Amino acid sequence: MMTLYANKRNLLNWDDHVLPESIDHTSKEPLSNPENHGGLTGLENLSLGAARIQVDDKRIINCRADLNQLVPFKYTWAWQKYLAGCANHWMPNEINMAADIALWKDPHGLSEDERIIVKRSLGFFSTADSLVANNLVLAVYRHITNPECRQYLLRQAFEEALHTHAYQHVIESLSLDEAEVFNMYREVPAVARKAAWVIPYTQSLADPHFKTGTPENDQRLLRDLIAFYVIFEAIFFYVGFTQILAMGRRGKMTGTSEQFQYILRDESMHANFGIDVINQIKIENPHLWTTDLQQEVIHMIQEGVDLEYQYAKDTMPRGILGLNAEMFKDYLKYIANRRCAQIGLPEQYPGTPNPFPWMSEMMDLKKEKNFFETRVIEYQTGGTLRWDS
Ligand SMILES: [Fe+2]
Ligand SMILES: [Fe+2]
Repeated sequence: MMTLYANKRNLLNWDDHVLPESIDHTSKEPLSNPENHGGLTGLENLSLGAARIQVDDKRIINCRADLNQLVPFKYTWAWQKYLAGCANHWMPNEINMAADIALWKDPHGLSEDERIIVKRSLGFFSTADSLVANNLVLAVYRHITNPECRQYLLRQAFEEALHTHAYQHVIESLSLDEAEVFNMYREVPAVARKAAWVIPYTQSLADPHFKTGTPENDQRLLRDLIAFYVIFEAIFFYVGFTQILAMGRRGKMTGTSEQFQYILRDESMHANFGIDVINQIKIENPHLWTTDLQQEVIHMIQEGVDLEYQYAKDTMPRGILGLNAEMFKDYLKYIANRRCAQIGLPEQYPGTPNPFPWMSEMMDLKKEKNFFETRVIEYQTGGTLRWDS
């Protein structure tokens, strides 16, 4: 294989007379990646005349084939999720918040317990989505060596930005104390514990010296993906989602609830994508999925259930909106069973019923149901939406 090096300014001269002089006939590895025993990043020097990429060259981690070619697709599920994410596109400022603003201002509009739930949810999620976005961009992306998966990661990263935007939009609409809400992850123990739990699972991957390609490091990547996709995004989000959506079902904070419905739909896709990635890594690298790692993951899931139950108790000292903390004990176990099954682990709480079957309907929300019929025509933003003609 011949490797073509760019000049210092990375400008390639494609003149026929110059080209042969710039080809290095001796080196086998791109200069920018001399010690890489893991996967490529996509930023390596171009390899002129290298064999065309075949679908079997693609690997989800530790891929050694050029990463700048989307096709041929190997993981069609990733591309399909990217398309589905785009089809579900929404913007937080398109949702009418007028009823929420009036209700929040009315001193008799909401009980103190209901106000706590709204503020805690905004406090937890505004930080959580920032942590997820940073993890994607600064830690995960580099180590997932497949273009179609990266395409979805880019879409997901933007959706996380939209979620942060949504929380900010609600906080601003309700004129909440921004400092209070944005500091909850450092000041409110039930929120702080969940944020603190996930931090170690992003730090190693974000270390610039971390490289995949050894069983130990590949296991770390797999474990950290599970921490974020299966526990943080797919267990830690569910008390807050259920609380806000229960409020919307009772006709309260309907704008905020609609924001959360769209976020939940996105998050359910993020979880499904993450689970597909995790399972694909296991299929391609079965030696990583050791009994020890499985036990560690089970322990992490149990910790996740416990911390989220603590959050339920903290945010619902009394029964509210037809909910109470005990019901969430079952709900979290039910969700944990599903997460275990999805990544090939035995259910840890067999037979636990789902106390909130209506939550599944929320996840299947069809955009057309209310997105096009009720809002867009009357709620144009900056002249960009003109769908009424
Ligand atoms: Fe999110
Ligand atoms: Fe997410």
